[in-house]
Amino acid sequence: MSQPTKLFEPYKLGPLTLPNRFVMAPLTRNRAVPPGMVPSPLAVEYYAQRASAGLLITEASQVSPQGQGYQDTPGIYSKEQVAGWRKVTDRVHERGGRIFIQLWHVGRVSHNSLQPNGGAPVAPSAIRAKGKTFVNNFFTDISEPRALELSEIPGIIEDFKRGTANALAAGFDGVEIHGANGYLLDQFAKDGTNKRTDAYGGSIENRAKLMLEISKAVAAEAGAERTGIRISPVTPANDVSDSNPQPLFDYIVDHLNALKLTYIHVIEGATGGPRDVAPFDYASLRKRFKQAYVANNGYDFELATKVLAANEADLIAFGKPFISNPDLVERLQKGAPLNAFDKATFYGGGAKGYTDYPTLEAAEAAQ
Ligand SMILES: Cc1cc2nc3c(=O)[nH]c(=O)nc-3n(C[C@H](O)[C@H](O)[C@H](O)COP(=O)(O)O)c2cc1C
Repeated sequence: MSQPTKLFEPYKLGPLTLPNRFVMAPLTRNRAVPPGMVPSPLAVEYYAQRASAGLLITEASQVSPQGQGYQDTPGIYSKEQVAGWRKVTDRVHERGGRIFIQLWHVGRVSHNSLQPNGGAPVAPSAIRAKGKTFVNNFFTDISEPRALELSEIPGIIEDFKRGTANALAAGFDGVEIHGANGYLLDQFAKDGTNKRTDAYGGSIENRAKLMLEISKAVAAEAGAERTGIRISPVTPANDVSDSNPQPLFDYIVDHLNALKLTYIHVIEGATGGPRDVAPFDYASLRKRFKQAYVANNGYDFELATKVLAANEADLIAFGKPFISNPDLVERLQKGAPLNAFDKATFYGGGAKGYTDYPTLEAAEAAQ
């Protein structure tokens, strides 16, 4: 039985009308085709199967070869990648969907074997992340990074701009800047990873500078109404931490608001882990940002319904539930059971655990 909920109500996001409040969260699946890191034909099917979501956000896609940190993740810097993504966006649009691409630079979360000429991954400061990346089909220690030279920063902003232009050429409805989960922009913002003494380190203003400069550049290219950003104020993902995240993210969100980005996508708590990992006042971000607030992390039907009813968010991003339920929207609308997900097929592989999760209709027909 369906309960009264705002989840199935339409929402106007900039120029787009979303038929419901479901966002498919960005989900890395490591199935792009090397050496060009082009989305595979299976990705066309995978995203098209999920087109009933109000908005799809693709897996994180590197804006440059340097921005890659795991094997077989797709890029958005070459002609071949644009052509590959065009097939995805065409099929999603044919199925009546809307899709943004998540623009990614991993910073220090990488491995020499993935970097141009086997070089060191780049970071705000030369501090190695305790953690693993996924290369040659194994989880491997993250490599020792080097600190970016001040003179290299404009090139990174340029990579995000070019990624945005490519995304528009590939037919995306908009872009999401990956500012979360301990990747480059989050590494710059947080004081555990940023020990710089130049204009990009030290004060909150300086540490937030790269995220805000990239937001401005991307919005200038795509239009602010087609630009969103993902942030994760307190996540410990990829070994990041900040000594005082509330004023840092209050400042960031005030400035994102001034840029009139179309949404902030907030991972509340530890990504994929406890929502209450550290105290943080998300309502403060909600109040500061006048466009859409997309909430994520551990949401189910009940929590989504409650948060939308309390006007604490406009849209809800679901991650793992969308991996195993291509028809998540229809299933929740009918109060039908959800397919369980299989962690073993999250990262890498083929159709198994990717495009073969049945819709309710297919499951019923098979009985
Ligand atoms: C397999 C997998 C891949 C992920 N890849 C990304 C990614 O590419 N970009 C990103 O911002 N978050 C990524 N995440 C985090 C999810 O978007 C989401 O924040 C997390 O799963 C919590 O939401 P959920 O409880 O609805 O699953 C990934 C999570 C999983 C499980």
